Parts: sequence; structure tokens; C-alpha cells
Amino acid sequence: MQTASPLQTIQHPLFAKHKLDVKIKRDDLIHPIISGNKWRKLKYNLSHAKEQGYKGALSFGGSYSNHIHALAFACYQQQLPCLGIIRGEPEYAANCTLSQARQWGMELSFVDRQTYRLRHDPAYLQELQALYPDYFIIPEGGSNPLALPGVGEVISELNSQTGFDTLMTPVGSGGTLAGLVAADNNQHRLLGIAVLKQQDYLSREVNQLLADNAANYHNWQILNDFHRGGYAKFSPQDSERILAFNRQTGITFEPVYSGKMLLALLDLIEQEYFPPGHKIVLLHTGGLQGLGGLTERGVIKEEDWPVPVLDGTR
Ligand SMILES: Cc1ncc(COP(=O)(O)O)c(C=O)c1O
Repeated sequence: MQTASPLQTIQHPLFAKHKLDVKIKRDDLIHPIISGNKWRKLKYNLSHAKEQGYKGALSFGGSYSNHIHALAFACYQQQLPCLGIIRGEPEYAANCTLSQARQWGMELSFVDRQTYRLRHDPAYLQELQALYPDYFIIPEGGSNPLALPGVGEVISELNSQTGFDTLMTPVGSGGTLAGLVAADNNQHRLLGIAVLKQQDYLSREVNQLLADNAANYHNWQILNDFHRGGYAKFSPQDSERILAFNRQTGITFEPVYSGKMLLALLDLIEQEYFPPGHKIVLLHTGGLQGLGGLTERGVIKEEDWPVPVLDGTR
């Protein structure tokens, strides 16, 4: 059985100044490859696929997708064939994320942007299912109703680890926040930080995942003003602030997901958003393999952001 991921207190002068108790749920340490919310979201998706007798799994992602990378390794471990439908050109197969996915046995199929936009379209999904009748189709990011109970285990673990007022998580496709909301059942305040410029779209996605129960939950909110220009966009100053925090705490936040949550936290504290004595938990959703892609594209420097060893042998 999987043990609870560690919960760690973060010491920082800003937190002390504002009399805040800040802890971090280290889901990034769950597994060197299937880390963070990927582990949580894939857990019941893959057990469902196996129980239902599917012969493989199929999913969607960009060329440096954390989800595709984690799915490839999880399927490799469970000896389940898998296919990744990837947005972009076949040359991307040689990049650091996809070359590892291929090494673990994932088959890749590259589609243009127009086709990729159909990834939620029922007719397109039906076509894919006809082409791969024995494959279980998992949506982009692994965010579907089966993702929710896995993510919900974060809440049961936290309830036995600490008392807290607010839990923060980055939001990309909404599955992680939806799983937390459903399991928390209005006990705490849940704050999602949108990492992309989509305004109300993300709240709609979360509500859709919560389905008939959506109206029962009123303790959550997505803050849309902390995306820093859009998905995977950040300024040199943002990068420097995250790196300074990484150095001070010894925890690696990357700039696409966990780093945006961190910067939102720091900004909110400076705006005195949280009252003194407030207990905050940050969910570290992993995604450190993405540093490899940012380095490969020259967006960050490897000497500043060393990529952890991700060969799955640890
Ligand atoms: C590392 C990481 N953190 C957070 C998220 C956002 O989670 P969600 O897509 O469930 O909103 C993602 C994307 O799935 C991710 O890769």
C-alpha cells in the first residue's frame, strides 16, 4: 500500500513576519517519475482499465507533457501497452520527455493543432475508440471522474497529518482541484491558482468534473490573476524569486505549476490576504521532469534548475 506523502513545514522570514504557518505536502516525492498529481490521477484510471479488461491505455498531451511522461512509465510498470496522441511534429519524438516515453514502450502518434483541438469531441473520441477498441481513453492531463478519488486521498492523508485552514494547488485542467474539493467536503478553504489565461473556463471544468455534486461545494475558488502571462510564461524576475525560495528552503519549485502557486502565495501574503495565525498547506504537484524541456528549449539554464535524475531506478 502506498504510504502518505511527507508533510513539511517551510521556514521563511515572510511567513514569520505575517505569523503564518506554511506547510507543503510533498507529492513530488511520491515517485521519481509518476510524481505529484500524476500519481494521484492515474491510480484509479489504470486500475479501472485493468479491471475492465482493456488491453492498453491512450491519452493526449503536448510534446513535453508531464502527464504523457508519467503515463508512459506507469503503463511500462504495469505492462500495459499505451499510446500518446501528441500535439505537434514527429521530430518532437526525440525530445527529452518523449524519448523517455518511447523508451518505456509508449507508441506516439503526432497530430496537428487542429486535430488536437478535437481531443474532447465525442465523434473524434468514438473514431479513436474504433481504431483502438481495446484501449482505455484517458483525457488530457488525466482529468476525468476516475481521477477524483485518487486526488481525494491527499485530503485523507492531510487530515491525519495536520490541522489547516487553506490548501493551495496549481490548476491546469482542473482534475486536481476537483478531487480535492470532492474529498474535502467543505471542511477547509481550497484555493486553486490558474497557471494559464483562461478565466472562468477552469471553474467550469472543475464544476463539470464534480457533476451532480457541484452545487454542494462552496469552499473553493480559482484565482485567475497569477498566470504571469499564460501557460509556461514567466519573467526573469519570477524565475529569480522562485530560485531564491528554492535556495532558501531546499525544495524545488518549477516555474510552470508549483512555482506559480508559490509566487501567488508570496504575493497574497504581501497583500495581507491571510490573517495572522492562518495555517496554509501547499500541494507540490510534482512536474519536475518539465525542467528538462524548458532547458532543452533554452528557456531556463540547467545550472540554475538542475533536472532530477528521472530514470525510474531510484
Ligand atoms: C506538475 C503539475 N501540476 C499541476 C497540474 C495541474 O493539475 P490539473 O491539470 O489537474 O489542474 C499539472 C497538469 O496536469 C501538472 O503537470
